[in-house]
Amino acid sequence: MPQLFTPLTLPAPKGPGLALRNRAIIAPMCQYVIDREDGVPTDWHLQHLGSFAAGGFGLVTVEATGVEARARISPRDVGLWTDEQQHAHERVVTFLHSQGAAAAVQLAHAGGKASTYPWLPGQPDGTVPVADGGWTTVSSVDGPVLPGLDAAKGLTVAEIAEVVAAFADAARRADAAGYDAIQLHAAHGYLIHQFLSPLTNTRTDEYGGDEQGRTRFVREVAAAVREVWPDHKPLGIRISATDWLDGAWDVAASARLIRRLADEHGVTWVDVSSGGLGGGATIPVGPGYQVPLAAELTRQLADLPLVVSAVGLIDEPIQAETILATGQAHAVSIGRAALRNPHWAASAATRLGVPRTDIPQAPQFWRADW
Ligand code: FNR
Repeated sequence: MPQLFTPLTLPAPKGPGLALRNRAIIAPMCQYVIDREDGVPTDWHLQHLGSFAAGGFGLVTVEATGVEARARISPRDVGLWTDEQQHAHERVVTFLHSQGAAAAVQLAHAGGKASTYPWLPGQPDGTVPVADGGWTTVSSVDGPVLPGLDAAKGLTVAEIAEVVAAFADAARRADAAGYDAIQLHAAHGYLIHQFLSPLTNTRTDEYGGDEQGRTRFVREVAAAVREVWPDHKPLGIRISATDWLDGAWDVAASARLIRRLADEHGVTWVDVSSGGLGGGATIPVGPGYQVPLAAELTRQLADLPLVVSAVGLIDEPIQAETILATGQAHAVSIGRAALRNPHWAASAATRLGVPRTDIPQAPQFWRADW
């Protein structure tokens, strides 16, 4: 059996963990389709996510989901702070389960990169004005997180506690909606990353300064979420393992953080992405360009009960198989290749020689490049 189709368990603090039918994970991908601006997942989300489950993926990660209204990247994003949102998530999760996939939700706060217009090609970058449904954003410190964005307001210590509580509330709702795993969004220049990186965290109180200070916010979020999230369910995190700049957030700091989150807060899954804070970084984008970051974390953290997934331009089944067979990661997260072909996993199974009776969605085997 190819590595990609060898089952995988995401460990949990108690119990057997979460069994996945294979190692192909859907990366979280915002859809920016909610025109009512109420953060409630729609039929679009059901078909978008449902097609990946029917297409054979082992775990489907739902897009960056705001833990409060101002946490959304855009007014068109999904949230998880109301009953109506929770019930709509539950409908999606039920369908994913019916197709044999496990369901994860990415809990997110966009911080100073919230309230933007990512769905409009050609739209000038920038913050959506209040008059157009936007809001004043928050971050680690006062000021714009990136050039062209409006100035964010630095969170006070009391406000940080409110955001931590919002993550915990969303985790409680994620459990009620039936999710099997949570992925905290600590990557791509959003709020948690804004605290982690010295590029954007110049605070002088206990939430800034050295690594201990800059990691305090994410450690508090993980602790608060782990407290309400059932012990038999895995807690994961997506990180930007590097800012791609000297003297900024890097792989060594990432390894120290993940070890601490694993030891102290039961984090058992890390999805390894990169970048998101600009700063003039040059990113060597190309096939599998972030895999070496995952490989380094896999190597340094091999003694932990931790699943490392690699992501970023992993498009070809044989490429995914090579990453796993050479021990660079335990799983792969697939984004755009799955948008192009939602049945990427079933199709990969055929191409890697899995017998027809064993492909992930056997009742629909004719979808699998057969
Ligand atoms: C993304 N990405 C992303 N990342 C994330 O952490 N949360 C999110 O909600 C989104 N949203 C999103 C929307 C769309 C349309 C795309 C294409 C991407 C990034 C994504 O998860 C992934 O890391 C990258 O796309 C790189 O992987 P691929 O696409 O090269 O496989």
